Amino acid sequence: MVSKRKSLPKDRFFENIEDELALTFDDVRLRTGFSEVMPDAVDITTFFSRNVPLQIPFVSAAMDTVTEHQMAIAMAKAGGLGIIHRNLTPEMQAKEVARVKYHLNGKITEPICVNETITISELLQLKEQKGYTFHTFPVLNQKRQLVGVLTETDFDCCIDPSRLAREVMSTNLVTSHPRTTVQAAYDRMIQERKKVLPLVNKQGHLTGLYIFSDVRRIVTESSAHYNVDDNGQLRVGAAIGVNDFERVEKLLDKRVDVVVIDTAHADTKPVIDTLKQLKKRYTSLDVVVGNISEKESARRLLDAGADGIKIGQGPGSICTTRIVAGVGTPQVTAVYWCARVADEYKVPVCADGGLRNSGDIPIAIGAGAHSLMMGNMFAGTNEAPGEIVFLEGKQWKGYRGMGSEGAMQQHAASRERYRTGKSLLVPEGVEGLTPYKGPLATVISTNIGGLRIGMGYVGAATIEELRAKGNFQRITNAGINESHPHDVRIVKDAPNYKR
Ligand code: XMP
Repeated sequence: MVSKRKSLPKDRFFENIEDELALTFDDVRLRTGFSEVMPDAVDITTFFSRNVPLQIPFVSAAMDTVTEHQMAIAMAKAGGLGIIHRNLTPEMQAKEVARVKYHLNGKITEPICVNETITISELLQLKEQKGYTFHTFPVLNQKRQLVGVLTETDFDCCIDPSRLAREVMSTNLVTSHPRTTVQAAYDRMIQERKKVLPLVNKQGHLTGLYIFSDVRRIVTESSAHYNVDDNGQLRVGAAIGVNDFERVEKLLDKRVDVVVIDTAHADTKPVIDTLKQLKKRYTSLDVVVGNISEKESARRLLDAGADGIKIGQGPGSICTTRIVAGVGTPQVTAVYWCARVADEYKVPVCADGGLRNSGDIPIAIGAGAHSLMMGNMFAGTNEAPGEIVFLEGKQWKGYRGMGSEGAMQQHAASRERYRTGKSLLVPEGVEGLTPYKGPLATVISTNIGGLRIGMGYVGAATIEELRAKGNFQRITNAGINESHPHDVRIVKDAPNYKR
């Protein structure tokens, strides 16, 4: 439904410069205002797409040096979301999604079971094939009744993998009835000193399963800030291409939460046709589309049914699109105009790329973004794919553009993202190194800190309020120089500042 958007303080700022000037992060600062908001009390929950919420407004980029299952798991545990890249076969990408989905559970309503006659080596093969990262498998007999459970200990202590499940499994089970609550399961598991609690009906059939680590996490509320779906499983997204329907089927089979049509230019007929097809075929699947940087493009994607739009053509740290092709709107202006249109449709906007400091985050949201996709910020963490490299006495990790020469030569998906083929291979990105950054959690907490204090200065208690109250001033080079530390020799690095 399209409805008129109410006018906001920042409108005049952007309208006044619309025809001649497009701005990016270092061109502007947010204006401060009267504030009764304490940074530690602000609410930073938001949405990535119509039906996919976020506890924090961060999404990791669908890049092969940023988001595979380790990153997606860590992002969702921090309250954000990871988008698994698509330089993988559909099967491999679906396996990555499965690894995220199977990482945590509440009550497992459809446990993956094995027959008592399977051998341990067959089961290990199945685990590898399907991407199961868990080690607990209920074992059923020919009548589909529960006869035992294979646990991690059973796997570890099995020296001969040709043995059958029924010879190796644990049989001293404690079970409970199908309606057992999480709290009751926790109490029973503590009392019986059991890490697995199968739920069994009167016929001996398995109806569910509790795992102690999941149950303890839920009961003690240590995971209240995780980004989880209705089944208590971590949320995860995946990138897809144009007409990539077979991939979507495989992703849906693993219960992916959202797909992102991941292109360098989404305002094209093939992308819009793909979006329409997806919305027709899978009415309950959220489809986010990107990237664009013009308000007219936003309207075309929103009219075609997008559940979220992604903004950014050329701001990325590894991008060369603006230099190679001479196109693309600087990011703050692009976000503002696209978000202004998306507000009419009540569809969330994700600002993708170009964020360098935590202060860029409130700026992007103040301009209209609901969430931020970041590549470089999260690349180089422990959770990003790739090994640490030592160079010039420092630690680094590889980070490359999905449109870099290397990515394009290796992967058809990268060539398709940039609409080039083997006959016209024009890189739109570079391959490089980014400083090793340690655990993702540290990077996230530094950036959340910047967002929170920014909201405090603006007087915005929620992300929606920051979007509404955010107002801007242009800043000159002199202003930027004044903003950075000056006339001092820094003797101790600040954890949240670099230049
Ligand atoms: P940051 O600044 O966070 O940007 O590193 C990440 C975003 O950059 C986009 N991306 C590219 N853009 N050429 C481009 O023009 C590329 O090779 C490339 N690779 C990634 C992408 O949107 C990502 O989320």
